[in-house]
Amino acid sequence: IPSKLAATPPMGWSSWNKFAEHIDDKTVRAMADAMVSSGLRDAGYIYINIDDGWQGERDAKGVLQPNAKFPDMKALTAYVHSKGLKIGIYSSQGPKTCAGYIGSYGHVKQDADTYADWGFDYLKYDLCSGEWFYADADTVKRSYYEMGKALQEAGKRTGRDILFSLCEYGRFDVGSWGRDVGGQLWRTTGDITDDYPTMAKIGFDKNGNPAWAGPHGWNDPDMLEIGNGGMSADEYRTHMSLWAMSAAPLMMGHDLREMSAETLAMLTNRRVIAVDQDALGVQGKAVRKAGTMEVWSKPLADGRVALALFNRGDAPAPLALAPADAGLAAIDSVEDVWSGARSAALPAGYQVPARGVVMVVVHGAEAS
Ligand code: DGJ
Repeated sequence: IPSKLAATPPMGWSSWNKFAEHIDDKTVRAMADAMVSSGLRDAGYIYINIDDGWQGERDAKGVLQPNAKFPDMKALTAYVHSKGLKIGIYSSQGPKTCAGYIGSYGHVKQDADTYADWGFDYLKYDLCSGEWFYADADTVKRSYYEMGKALQEAGKRTGRDILFSLCEYGRFDVGSWGRDVGGQLWRTTGDITDDYPTMAKIGFDKNGNPAWAGPHGWNDPDMLEIGNGGMSADEYRTHMSLWAMSAAPLMMGHDLREMSAETLAMLTNRRVIAVDQDALGVQGKAVRKAGTMEVWSKPLADGRVALALFNRGDAPAPLALAPADAGLAAIDSVEDVWSGARSAALPAGYQVPARGVVMVVVHGAEAS
């Protein structure tokens, strides 16, 4: 199903990483408020996504109702829209969601219509319960296509396009067919947790095949943990840099009401966001590995190249960059992504913090 949505990777917030099922109307509204007052909306974070835990029971006609924590979905989406934001919801193709709430099984079209009528702009569809779904690629694909098609039709009817996020953990090469079923992003991995080993395993090794990513369809290495407290500042900078170099969706997962100035600065650094959101839409990748170090490269639409030096080791380590890392013959300008410092040439070397990163955007002459 061709899509005009998500020309660049989606950016926003989701309730799951911080709140799990402990989410309600009041908290969602508070997140929308904080998104605006913090400046995060203006930095590009547009979606406020309700994850698992909003569902109640089906009524006599089979229409799924929210639970008591969400008294009025239409009023909630209107509130979020009034803040210049978009709003997302969550379901599963199985009879039950991962957290045991009612899923869309047997009610796919009806649920798509319900989300559209309530005013939602985004659905995350999570492959949970009903073992037959996991059995073979065709069944999984068909279950996503059914919902993708239903969302597209419902969106046409209401005039509000609905973005479709596939959560099936990278099974069956999802990136090779995610677009065909109407998806704009697809998970490449199991769940992230707020610790360096898990984040690094996903970010370095399970972020999806770059060949699958591009405008309107993105590999999704799961949501951000920045601001949740389980990693050091250097580790969170690595998290943000890896996701930006990977052209990954930037879905925050912390409490937006309680964040340090450092967390906010990391999430709103306009240079790192520009790398993630670059219009060329190329997913960067490692071009050189040396011991604990990895050099990643991502070409940008204006001809410049983003380079990241990651140190996966537990001690600071030196490394020099070379024009060849960017596929260039010579470099004539260097902009440090995290500090903003500019220079005309690469320094003789960098000292990269333990589990940390140095990230630059370079310009130069191409090899003739
Ligand atoms: C598993 C997903 O990977 C999580 O992000 C979250 O959506 C939970 N399911 C909800 O049950």
